[in-house]
Amino acid sequence: MPTLAPAARTEGNAQLPVARTVADLRARVAAWRREGQTVALVPTMGALHEGHLTLVRQAKERAGRVVASLFVNPTQFAPHEDFDRYPRDEAGDAAKLASAGCDLLYAPSVGEMYPEGFATSIAVGGPSEGLCGAFRPHMFGGVAVVVTKLFLQALPDVALFGEKDYQQLMVIRRFTRDLDIPVQVVGVPTVREPDGLALSSRNAYLTADERARAPELNRALAEAAAALTAGAEAAEVIERAQARIAAAGFGNIDYVELRDAESLEPVARVERPARLLAAAWLGKARLIDNLPVAAG
Ligand code: PAF
Repeated sequence: MPTLAPAARTEGNAQLPVARTVADLRARVAAWRREGQTVALVPTMGALHEGHLTLVRQAKERAGRVVASLFVNPTQFAPHEDFDRYPRDEAGDAAKLASAGCDLLYAPSVGEMYPEGFATSIAVGGPSEGLCGAFRPHMFGGVAVVVTKLFLQALPDVALFGEKDYQQLMVIRRFTRDLDIPVQVVGVPTVREPDGLALSSRNAYLTADERARAPELNRALAEAAAALTAGAEAAEVIERAQARIAAAGFGNIDYVELRDAESLEPVARVERPARLLAAAWLGKARLIDNLPVAAG
């Protein structure tokens, strides 16, 4: 029967223990299992905000114990991207997680996750094609590897992800199903600022002026989603949305697209549940957002 890792290998404080190794994580989860507890996992890259804490609170409602992982995953960033400057504040994150009722923080090192000689990749297709997959081609393969590892390390009953990264959620659902990983993947609606801006760790990159313009992305999508539900043709609606986003001062608009809500295949008209997704640059921040579009 597995035993708990020695106390010296577990850091943290009375409020929130921290596991740094796979062995420590597994021992803690095994101890919970012996008590008959169910386990939820909330994978994160830290810089936590209310969106992440909502995931933790919802995880608490679905399982007896909640593990949040904090790992800025190098394999999902291209060399020119923001891996080095991605905001990091482990102590602050730990305090937030404790206050949201999290039971364990799993914060492995890069060496623990990708030991010397690591040579495995996962090729994802289907919902990873197009959208962010076209602009960040390395990303979903990296997400698939790290999330699969986290699933196999923690062996949770359920794992929760924000719908703000809707394409990521669909990719994770697909490879979890395709690889028969026995984890229930749950999507949680996007948490927004009062002005509609989707919460994101990358909002920290916005200047005050950009922050004031940023909610236009959500407003343009909301207007477009209403028009699509009313039966308008996607191409024309999307053109209007792009013009509105550009007029708000965004730079490159990577995409505004209408996709099937489940398969993420492109659709021209809303006949079954669809999703309107967008990514656009505002200064140094690449903002993404999406909204459901119901068939009218
Ligand atoms: O959404 C994120 O924060 C990351 O992509 C995830 C799922 C934690 C994998 O690194």
